[in-house]
Amino acid sequence: MGIAAKHLHTKLSLSVLAVLIFSLLFIVLLYAERINLLSSTTYFTSKSCAKKGYSKSTKKSIQDERNAREDNRLKSIVDDRFIFDPDECNVARGKWVYNRSFKPLYTDLTCPYLDRQVSCLKNGKPDSDYRLWEWQLDDCILPRFDAKLALEKIRGKRVMFVGDSLQRGQWQSFVCLVEFLIPKDQKSMKRGKVHSVFKIKDHNATIEFYWAPYLIDSNTDLKIIGDPKKRILRVDSVEKHAKHWVGVDVLVFNTYVWWMTGTKINSLWGSFANGEDGYEELEAPVSYRIALKTWANWVDSNIDQNKTRVFFTTMSPTHQRSADWNNKGGIKCYNETKPVTKKGHWGTGSDRRIMNVVDSVVRKMKVPVTFLNITQLSEYRVEAHSSIYTEMGGKLLTDEQKADPLKFADCIHWCLPGVPDTWNQIFLANL
Ligand SMILES: *[C@@H]1O[C@H](CO)[C@@H](O)[C@H](O)[C@H]1NC(C)=O
Ligand SMILES: *[C@@H]1O[C@H](CO)[C@@H](O)[C@H](O)[C@H]1NC(C)=O
Ligand SMILES: *[C@@H]1O[C@H](CO)[C@@H](O)[C@H](O)[C@H]1NC(C)=O
Ligand SMILES: *[C@@H]1O[C@H](CO)[C@@H](O)[C@H](O)[C@H]1NC(C)=O
Ligand SMILES: *[C@@H]1O[C@H](CO)[C@@H](O)[C@H](O)[C@H]1NC(C)=O
Repeated sequence: MGIAAKHLHTKLSLSVLAVLIFSLLFIVLLYAERINLLSSTTYFTSKSCAKKGYSKSTKKSIQDERNAREDNRLKSIVDDRFIFDPDECNVARGKWVYNRSFKPLYTDLTCPYLDRQVSCLKNGKPDSDYRLWEWQLDDCILPRFDAKLALEKIRGKRVMFVGDSLQRGQWQSFVCLVEFLIPKDQKSMKRGKVHSVFKIKDHNATIEFYWAPYLIDSNTDLKIIGDPKKRILRVDSVEKHAKHWVGVDVLVFNTYVWWMTGTKINSLWGSFANGEDGYEELEAPVSYRIALKTWANWVDSNIDQNKTRVFFTTMSPTHQRSADWNNKGGIKCYNETKPVTKKGHWGTGSDRRIMNVVDSVVRKMKVPVTFLNITQLSEYRVEAHSSIYTEMGGKLLTDEQKADPLKFADCIHWCLPGVPDTWNQIFLANL
């Protein structure tokens, strides 16, 4: 409620201010320019807002260059972006802005719940600038992560992140973003191989992680099979995992990187006497579609949309090929220290076919699913992966391993604090 009121207030005072400035400066014509700009983006079509009232009569001088220059000058005085509204704002459109004074809410020394895999500074990463970039939207103001607000939003609720190790990163980020507000005797963490629970007693809330790298059932969920050719996915079977999702208030799913082995996926459905032998080798997007459909059917038939919010985190990009961002002499993401600045950069680590499958399957669902569309914004962040400042088999990389980044640099997982904090900033703004 407080939020809505604040929205209204800010929107009102913004528009009042705008009217004042514009009538004072006799540059009403500028509006045409701006409104034209807005209506060319699809995100502002549904809701009318105070600014739009001025449009029609002043459309003539759109081309007027002088006015455009004036507009730019004015823009730097008045931030005319909208307060974040999930229905209107596209989180994929924006830029990373370096802010030397930005203070992440936690560090890998202050938050006791981070895995070593993602504790890059603790693991010796020399460059710490990657923590100081903020994702700034083109058309909207994405609010900073407000830990108090987050705790209020999840009061009395079970929040569960479900998926692979990238989802585990998002879960740890979310825990770290709020845990510092909670007194020691009011919080507890229970880590399990499959299911982990962070409990906040005085809020009667939990933030949980459930390991299901494909969402559906497979022979490599628990005891991971190294050779992708020996992995078999039961693409029509989700119940074994899904029964643990019942009764949760906020579910956040993902699945992507495990499908991207480059080989065909051994996909099994139905149950036959010959056990696991009856599988079919399918291209990843084909198998993915069947599996996601199985997940979607389960959600549609088991989730009460009046009680449970469902989110889906889109693909987390990998950065295994430095030629994607024109660093021909580079070794994967190793040694990168700056985000890619080319607008709309999209590398080979994000498979558009998978994005299309996700989009088309979810579109047909009965239960509304909110996308956390983090792919584009994460694509830019080639420098924010664990790289060689990580562990393997429970041990920090040795100096020899570090000297062989081609083999050992991790360009899939993200350092924390880091990019997944922005995913959670978007998550909270949608909650
Ligand atoms: C940078 O961060 C500081 C501290 O949070 C904040 O006051 C300032 O507005 C930020 N600057 C930009 C350009 O966002
Ligand atoms: C605590 O939350 C659970 C659901 O997560 C709910 O069933 C229970 O009633 C809540 N207890 C109190 C005291 O609010
Ligand atoms: C959800 O709420 C709406 C409106 O309150 C109601 O019409 C609908 O029957 C409810 N659905 C379920 C599954 O309870
Ligand atoms: C990585 O960066 C360091 C420090 O800038 C430099 O000395 C080294 O040569 C770089 N290594 C490669 C393989 O580019
Ligand atoms: C996510 O955003 C990208 C643009 O960056 C878009 O191409 C894609 O369709 C979006 N995905 C979904 C599922 O909405």
